[in-house]
Amino acid sequence: MAARRGIFITIEGLDGCGKSTQLERLAGVLRADSLDVLATREPGGTALGDRIRGVLLDSATTGLSPWAEMALMFASRAQHLHELILPALENGRIVLCDRFTDSTEAYQGGGRKLGSEAVLSLHRVLCGNIQPDLTILMDSEPGASVARARRRNRARAASDAGEADENRFERESRAFFDRVHNAYLAIARREAHRFFVVDARRSPEVVHPEIVAAVRERLKLAARTA
Ligand code: TYD
Repeated sequence: MAARRGIFITIEGLDGCGKSTQLERLAGVLRADSLDVLATREPGGTALGDRIRGVLLDSATTGLSPWAEMALMFASRAQHLHELILPALENGRIVLCDRFTDSTEAYQGGGRKLGSEAVLSLHRVLCGNIQPDLTILMDSEPGASVARARRRNRARAASDAGEADENRFERESRAFFDRVHNAYLAIARREAHRFFVVDARRSPEVVHPEIVAAVRERLKLAARTA
């Protein structure tokens, strides 16, 4: 694998925790500093990945086995790394990615009970064990976050018939999201060196500067060791 000159930052959390808003605002701040930012997301990020995303998130997809679900998440990711993320990092860009393998460990490993070992093994085989330089975990209350995600999806469905239905995960039970939440916290403890956990129960205006400060700190560190 070619040398990696850029910085790989991922953002994680439960559905409806406010990740996408924070990622957009963070990208805006970094671009205002004249940094070259690639903002992307999973599942998706490439033409193939977006097709896989459609299958995974559409509530019309029924009876998908948890193992097939995990395989599709990794198929999207392997393509995303090959086509977008690794070339961007080789070109020295800052990659901001909304979800990555920690999502698979939390949702499929924890939520679907497939366990961490299977996720980590697939990550080694299919993704060259690529790890983010920094992972921001937006820690939120499962009940409140999922209620917010469901409201958002209902509003989308009501306002624009052309929008994709992305509700399949939001239909899961409270127990499922509690397992996802606990799995995230366990990963953050295990991988403390790359995690920044931010309390996302507070307003976006309070959370935003804390995320920016953590990212700036990481960029400074990278500049020193370059
Ligand atoms: P996302 O688009 O980030 O949704 P939201 O804005 O509601 O957080 O993610 C789509 C869904 O896919 C989300 O419910 C989490 C799920 N997911 C997994 O289960 N495993 C994965 O590896 C990834 C990347 C996402």
